[in-house]
Amino acid sequence: MSNRRNFIKNAGLASLGVLSACQMKPKENTIESRKKGPVIKPLAISTWKNGMDANVAAWKVLSKGGKAIDAVESGVKVVEANPDDMSVGYGGRPDRDGIVTLDACIMDSTGNAGSVCALENIMHPISVARKVMDDTPHVMLAGKGALQFALEFGFKQEDLLTEKSKQEFEKWRLTSEYKPLINIENHDTIGMLALDQNGDISGACTTSGLAYKMHGRVGDSPIIGAGMYCDNEVGGAVATGMGELVMKTLGSFLVVELMNQGMSPQQAVEEAILRIVKKIPGYEEFQIGYLAINKNGEVGAYSLHRGFNYALYADDSNNLIDSNYYLK
Ligand code: GLY
Repeated sequence: MSNRRNFIKNAGLASLGVLSACQMKPKENTIESRKKGPVIKPLAISTWKNGMDANVAAWKVLSKGGKAIDAVESGVKVVEANPDDMSVGYGGRPDRDGIVTLDACIMDSTGNAGSVCALENIMHPISVARKVMDDTPHVMLAGKGALQFALEFGFKQEDLLTEKSKQEFEKWRLTSEYKPLINIENHDTIGMLALDQNGDISGACTTSGLAYKMHGRVGDSPIIGAGMYCDNEVGGAVATGMGELVMKTLGSFLVVELMNQGMSPQQAVEEAILRIVKKIPGYEEFQIGYLAINKNGEVGAYSLHRGFNYALYADDSNNLIDSNYYLK
């Protein structure tokens, strides 16, 4: 891209308040320069400890030369089916009416995307989101419409409320205190990004959302650009934590756009957390974590509070890594 076109692009974004002063410095990490660096691929990166199991499933696809989109779907399905993960899919904590409602989204390297929100009684919302992406002209289906669509495609209805989750809910009802806990059981949402051997990027994000939320509340996870976003020319990002903060700053799109403007994945996730700090009063009460990758397989991770970790599978090795964080 010519300098003039870069200038016009940056000037336009600056007038919209998208770029801070530091971002308007000359680019040190442009898309052009990133293409020249060593590329680490394939790789899979997932939020939280349960991302380790998700990565193993994704790696089975990636190591055989499979597509990033198939890897992320297979990966997050492992966590959706795990009743011990009480923030995602089967066994997820219900809303304040005792109903488990699920949000999920998926995006491929062509920029195609699908999502479902407030979906009930389906074990794998990510696969329903994929069907929305692959087999409809739409991006998002909600509630009863999403369920009807899933049933038409042969998904089975199942009771997702486990005995453990039900007992916790009954206990919560005694006080009904509505205060999200930071790092609930050290996991919240599974968000995954993959870079395949072909150099293509895809992402997936799935959750049962905030525990004991109002019935009908939808978080960031099914919102393309909030809970997850990919641009195959640039990179991808996923978010975890209190969805309202991510939605108000369109966090994952922001991270990818910052990379598009020249930031490294690490610089971009840190800037996105700073955006929350600057814009959202009371942010200290909540946890937010971002992961990002670029086309070179460079990664970024950052959170508001201590306690966010992520699983990175690259170079045939799967590792759980503590994220750096803002509130020291
Ligand atoms: N990040 C998940 C949610 O807020 O629903």
